[in-house]
Amino acid sequence: MSLLSVQESCHGVNMTKSTLIRWVFRLAIWIWVLYWILGIFWLDLGASPALKLNHEMGQITLVLLTVNLLLGILIDLWRPLPTWLRFAIQERRFWGISSFLVLVLHVFFYFLNEGFEPKAWTQVFTKTYLILGALAFAILFVMAVTSNNWAVKKLRGPRWKRLQRIVYAAQVLILLHVISIEKADLIKYSIWIGGLCALQAARWIVVWNRRRV
Ligand code: HEM
Repeated sequence: MSLLSVQESCHGVNMTKSTLIRWVFRLAIWIWVLYWILGIFWLDLGASPALKLNHEMGQITLVLLTVNLLLGILIDLWRPLPTWLRFAIQERRFWGISSFLVLVLHVFFYFLNEGFEPKAWTQVFTKTYLILGALAFAILFVMAVTSNNWAVKKLRGPRWKRLQRIVYAAQVLILLHVISIEKADLIKYSIWIGGLCALQAARWIVVWNRRRV
């Protein structure tokens, strides 16, 4: 289903209302980010505020990525597509770019927590959880810079779509990044990201069976 036909079929939804809903969700993301960053002035961020903000930005990145990946799964599994899902499809690019920008903040607070010392850079190539994080970062960077109409045209639809599938490698790298962190909540993240990987696998089986029929 092309984006254009989704947009046409959204005419059922009153444009003013849909624009309003669209901006409520968009603002909610950045109010959530600003709440934590401006929290430096009013929240108790503990002994190392930069590490606390690194964690919070890491979590927000993961939530935005999770929503975007779940939308991708629902698009393939839910037929016919309900109106809210058609509407949400149009927001995937905003969510995708927002998740990358929050990820940049996650990495920024890592370097701030390390005082921008040279070892903060060398560690990225020596510590396993940081190597995994950096690889996932590189993949999400490629996806963010190709999330525009120019890149879609330049790469011509199918090739662009194939490129966007590298997100699945990032998903596994993020799981490994988080579970190889000493103090991370292994149960929470294994269920969260592991569950997402399982849903992806279910989706591929359904699509594969559908194509075989
Ligand atoms: C260059 C890339 C990256 C760096 C330098 C980095 C750095 C870090 C650091 C320092 C921590 C905290 C470790 C600790 O508590 O001791 C962390 C945790 C985390 N990172 Fe990353 N990370 C990177 C990429 C990513 C990516 C791509 C994601 C994707 C969503 C991500 C999500 C998270 C999450 C969810 C946590 C756990 C937060 C928590 O414990 O609550 N990171 N990362």
